[in-house]
Amino acid sequence: MKILGIESSCDEMGASVYDTKKGLCSNELFSQIDLHRAYGGVVPEIASRSHMEKIIPIVESALHKAGVMLSDIDVFAVTTKPGLPGSLMIGLSFAKSLAYSENKKLIGVNHLEGHIFSACIGQDIPFPFLCLTASGGHTSLYLVKGYGDFELIADTLDDAAGEAFDKIAYILELPYPGGKEIEKCAKAVDYEDFYKYTRGKKDSLDFSFSGLKTGVLYHMQKNGWYDVIKKKLNKPSEQEFLFIRNQIASSLLVCVKDIFLMKLALALKKHSNIAAIAFVGGVSCNLYLQKELRNFCEFKKISFFVPRNFTLCTDNAGMIAFVGHYKAQQEQYDDLLLSIF
Ligand code: KG4
Ligand code: ZN
Repeated sequence: MKILGIESSCDEMGASVYDTKKGLCSNELFSQIDLHRAYGGVVPEIASRSHMEKIIPIVESALHKAGVMLSDIDVFAVTTKPGLPGSLMIGLSFAKSLAYSENKKLIGVNHLEGHIFSACIGQDIPFPFLCLTASGGHTSLYLVKGYGDFELIADTLDDAAGEAFDKIAYILELPYPGGKEIEKCAKAVDYEDFYKYTRGKKDSLDFSFSGLKTGVLYHMQKNGWYDVIKKKLNKPSEQEFLFIRNQIASSLLVCVKDIFLMKLALALKKHSNIAAIAFVGGVSCNLYLQKELRNFCEFKKISFFVPRNFTLCTDNAGMIAFVGHYKAQQEQYDDLLLSIF
């Protein structure tokens, strides 16, 4: 069976072909980061317009890379929620049209379910596992018991981890998206914890990052660094500017790492028989966080998994096609009334 996956929930247009015998055959992506960078975040109208332009070439490219024709596809799997309504509607309308015109099956996929199983593509993760999903829109912990069988055990009460990176990067005058830039700055000062920002509540599984964001801002303002970084001071030396910025970024990243480890340790105490931990979503591209989580798992004597490449960490259609394939095996099809609501 061949599944074409389509993902357009935010600022990435993705199409992918998953073959139940061969696995992932293509995973094409057009990222709109360059279109949104000037605004410091995603502009919904720009995202929708770009999706309309890119959806046909990206789907064609996914079919071509997989060496298949549109008529070879058995199932069209598409992200239906959560996401930007305009962006979602474009992917869903297109997938519905293809399913109708080709007289093939249609499956709606929840974007978060896609992320949860993104680490299962091409590798066998033992169940039950804990999945830490950290992206620009979500930071959650799931208890995953089987394909399509998972339970939300912790969520963010406010900002997501990636969102905190992006917002603090903006304060630090670093380009959007901020996570990768923060990682670079932290690496330059060996991931040292200079300022020991507050780690938050130890006894709750839920995440909260908005206090951390405000804490960093107040800390900068109190020391006059906000003005240094925003270059409002008369003569901030280039070195002083870069050093302070690296120190803040590094302290922030170490703090987020500690929060992740604290929550994972608590989740392991609350849930027995956990066989593995998976770390997914855009933030899982961070090699420092990957290394620290891997060390933690080694210490706890459980397996650790991240998606097999960076494309599978961030928003992509491969994960949507993958969920589509096991839903198809369970015959969980949708009809043409499928909606984004
Ligand atoms: O999963 P994703 O591509 O899109 C959403 O569903 O949000 O995640 C994007 C997020 C952004 O907030 C970005 O700053 C963060 O992932 N990110 C990173 C890194 N690369 C991307 N965060 C930390 N370190 C990175 N290397
Ligand atoms: Zn996502």
